[in-house]
Amino acid sequence: MALLEIRDLKVVFTRRDKAPVHAVDGLNLDVDRGQTVGLVGESGCGKSVTSLAILGLLPTRGVEVSGTITFDGEDLLTMSDTRRREVRGRDIAMIFQDPMTSLNPVLRVGVQLTETLRRHRGMSTGEARVEAQRLLEQVGIPAARQRLGEFPHQLSGGMRQRVLIAIALACSPKMLIADEPTTALDVTVQAQILDLLRTHVADSATALVMITHDMGVVAGICDEVSVMYAGRRIEAARCYPLFEDPRHWYTKGLLASAPTLERPRADRLSPIPGSAQDRIPWAQGCAFAPRCPAVTADCLAGPPPMVSVDDTHQHRCVNPAQPHSGPAPADKELMSP
Ligand SMILES: Nc1ncnc2c1ncn2[C@@H]1O[C@H](COP(=O)(O)OP(=O)(O)O)[C@@H](O)[C@H]1O
Ligand SMILES: [Mg+2]
Repeated sequence: MALLEIRDLKVVFTRRDKAPVHAVDGLNLDVDRGQTVGLVGESGCGKSVTSLAILGLLPTRGVEVSGTITFDGEDLLTMSDTRRREVRGRDIAMIFQDPMTSLNPVLRVGVQLTETLRRHRGMSTGEARVEAQRLLEQVGIPAARQRLGEFPHQLSGGMRQRVLIAIALACSPKMLIADEPTTALDVTVQAQILDLLRTHVADSATALVMITHDMGVVAGICDEVSVMYAGRRIEAARCYPLFEDPRHWYTKGLLASAPTLERPRADRLSPIPGSAQDRIPWAQGCAFAPRCPAVTADCLAGPPPMVSVDDTHQHRCVNPAQPHSGPAPADKELMSP
C-alpha cells in the first residue's frame, strides 16, 4: 500500500445564490514512501485545495468533501480532530508559497522552531534550542545562532523560506507537501531551495509532493508527475516519458507553453487557447474539450476513462497525441542518400 492513497476525492464549494465550484472532481493519486511526485496544472485546477484537503485545513462551512485520503493506513477525512492535529506537523508537513504568511510575524524565528520541537518531539527548552540551531544550519542559514533571535521581517524571502523548511523538517515527517514553494523567489534562490529539498528527500526517504505550475521545477526534482485539469488527473507518468511523449493534449499544450531555448524565438511560447474557465463538467465529457485542438465527438460522450500506455504512464484522452516513434521526418531526409 502506498504511503498516501487518494481515491475519488471531490471538494465542492457551495455558496448561496451561486453555482457550486467543483474544485477537486474525482482525483486519484498515490505517493510512495521516499518518492517525489509533482502535481502540476494551470492556476485554478485544484492543486492547493487538494493539499488543504490532505491536511484537513479546508473551511468547515460551505464545503462538501467526499472520497478517501488514506495516509499510512488511516483515512485522514474521517479521523478525529485530535488525531489529525497529531499527524499534521509530525507525519505530514507543509511548505506554502509565501513564507511571510505562514510564519508568525510577532514571534522570533527561534521561538517558532522550538515550539514545534517541544510540541511534536517532546523536547525540553534547552534541547529544543540546540536542535533549532542545528536545523537552521542544515537548511543553509549562516550565523544560525544569531538568526534564532530575529523576527521574520529581518530575514530575506529566501531565508524565510529556509526557516519554513527547517520547521517542516523539524519532526522528520513521512511526507512533505510543498505548494509552489519557490514561486515567490528569484531564480537563483529558487534553485538553492530546490537543491535543499532534493538533498533532504534523498537523505531521509521523505515523500515529497511538489505542487507547481512550473514544468522546469518538475524536471528538476520529481520522479513522477501528475497533471491536473479541472480538478482531476488527466495524465501521469515518470518525468522523462511525460516530457518526451505527452499523450494528453493538455499536457502537450502545457509543455509547449513553457519557455525553452531549443525552439526558434518566434515560436518559443505557444499558449493554450482559452482559459481554464472554458470547461465542461467531467460527467458530460472531457473538461478540456472546449480548448482541445484534437476534439472529436467521442470526447463529448461521457467522462473519458484513465487508460494505460504502460505500467507507469496513464492518460485520460480518447484521441491521444501520437508518440514520437523513430526519427523525425527531417532526420530521415538527412539520412537518405
Ligand atoms: N474558499 C473557496 N471558496 C470558493 N471557491 C474556492 C475556494 N478556494 C478555492 N476555490 C476555487 O477552487 C478552484 C481550485 O482552486 P486552487 O486549488 O486554489 O487552484 P490552484 O490549482 O491554482 O492551487 C478554483 O476555481 C478556486 O476559485
Ligand atoms: Mg495554488
